[in-house]
Amino acid sequence: MPPPYEEILDYTLIDADRLQARIAELGREITADYKSDQEVVLIGILKGSLLFMADLMRHIDVPNIVDFMDVTSYGAGVRESTGTVRILRDITVSIERRHVLIAEDIIDSGRTLEQVLRLLRARQPASLRVCTLLDKPSRREVQVPVDWIGFAIPDEFVVGCGIDYAQKYRNLPFIGKVVPQE
Ligand code: IMP
Ligand code: MG
Repeated sequence: MPPPYEEILDYTLIDADRLQARIAELGREITADYKSDQEVVLIGILKGSLLFMADLMRHIDVPNIVDFMDVTSYGAGVRESTGTVRILRDITVSIERRHVLIAEDIIDSGRTLEQVLRLLRARQPASLRVCTLLDKPSRREVQVPVDWIGFAIPDEFVVGCGIDYAQKYRNLPFIGKVVPQE
């Protein structure tokens, strides 16, 4: 890994070109699955979905509005999900009887998404679907329905394209594997 990342990153898991090509493909798949006259409410889960949402929505060609929800699932550690989700910022639009698509950065245990789905389902959307850039299926502790997955990855701690390590490295245009810390 070239400077300045050689001490924090082991290697590139997904380079920027592959990432962008897959995100464009996801946008086309999503566009094809929604009827062209259906308005979709795109909800990004902050802060991780920031870059993914920006890249994905360029390739979504159905009427849409965008909103963001900020939740926190981490307690003391930076690598372990606590399973308790707190809403730090709620969406500002009503989703009742509307088609909702959640954009997530990465699904690990599934606990964050499970709780976000529970919160949003209670508001009675017409449909509620999920698109995630990355998925770590081997880490799943609760089953959650995921409609579109960018890449399934092994059980490695990664950063980039919005995904952080202790709030840093979200800006990286590729997905890198973090050097294991003791
Ligand atoms: P879950 O609740 O265990 O599914 O965790 C989902 C959240 O954990 C994601 O939205 C990320 O914020 C974070 N997360 C999971 N795996 C990673 C990783 O490899 N790098 C950085 N954050 C991660
Ligand atoms: Mg995070």
